[in-house]
Amino acid sequence: MDVRRWTFDVCSISANTAPPAVSFRRSLLAWYRQHGRDFPWRHTRDPYAILVSELMLQQTQVAAVIPYYREWMRRFPDFAALAAASEREVLHAWQGLGYYARARNFRAAAQIVMEKHRGNFPRSADVIRELPGIGRYTANAVATFAFNQSLPIVEANIARLLARLLDLRIPIDTSAGRDALWTEAAALVPTREAATYNSALMDLGALVCGSRPKCGVCPVKRFCRTKKPSTLPIRKARQPLKSCTEHHGFVVRRRRVLLEQSQDRWRGMWMLPRLATPPALHQPLHVSEFPFTNHRITLAVYSDHNVAGKRNATQRWFPIRNLGSLPLPSPHRRALNQILTATRQIAS
Ligand code: ADE
Repeated sequence: MDVRRWTFDVCSISANTAPPAVSFRRSLLAWYRQHGRDFPWRHTRDPYAILVSELMLQQTQVAAVIPYYREWMRRFPDFAALAAASEREVLHAWQGLGYYARARNFRAAAQIVMEKHRGNFPRSADVIRELPGIGRYTANAVATFAFNQSLPIVEANIARLLARLLDLRIPIDTSAGRDALWTEAAALVPTREAATYNSALMDLGALVCGSRPKCGVCPVKRFCRTKKPSTLPIRKARQPLKSCTEHHGFVVRRRRVLLEQSQDRWRGMWMLPRLATPPALHQPLHVSEFPFTNHRITLAVYSDHNVAGKRNATQRWFPIRNLGSLPLPSPHRRALNQILTATRQIAS
């Protein structure tokens, strides 16, 4: 599909004599002034605070992010504070948000800002993108929201909205689909007040052009090409979820619990020690399920005193009362809380 044609076609649809991108933006901004959402990171132009919000918002719902954002800004108010923090403190503050590579990369990025850029966050999106863990979306989001730069952004809400606006009938998670969305987003972004415009586009995608589109109240309906909005966007067929079970041991001695530092999925975080095989003839103390990428993992935890006899270098005993300050992946924290409560060994 030739994305540039859309702009031309809209000209003939629009009653307005102004260029279509201009009237599209005008309608969008009028709607945003009345209906735009209020978030703490929309009250600042500090690139650090905006980067915190954008990294947290990847893969996590906005309502869940707000308390994390506030607490993070209290604990690590700027790049200097984050660069100076230990990995353990950073993982602990990120605990519950998942995808911990984001937190590790963010700390590494803060150290680069402090050392290579002498504490001055770069203004160029291309330079921002060189920081670890920062791709095109995040670099452009920080440059537009912090510095008001005229750059396009495409995240889930905007992708859904643009796919419908363009009637894009190719999967948006292919390179052709992504290219079409970014090209269109770039064609529409204004040279001035891009921060407000990009926030407005995101909010329209979230509040009106959601998975159940509310076309009756859409301020840009007259620009929209699709006749069947609920069938868009198209995505590639998903890989079916794979199921697997992971076995872990629980052992307490003198009010201390044995934990193991993850070397892979939750690198740096502490979890219940792994068991190669479940202990014969034992019922698990705890069973739960959690998703991880394209897996559905069953976590089974057994009371296992043998695990303490076969300790390895990644394992350590921790006082139960100190578990609150350790970085633990959420499934393991929930399992520990449940077992400790059931066995009345609640941290005091
Ligand atoms: N999702 C990604 N970035 C966002 C932002 N800045 N505000 C609201 N939702 C978002």
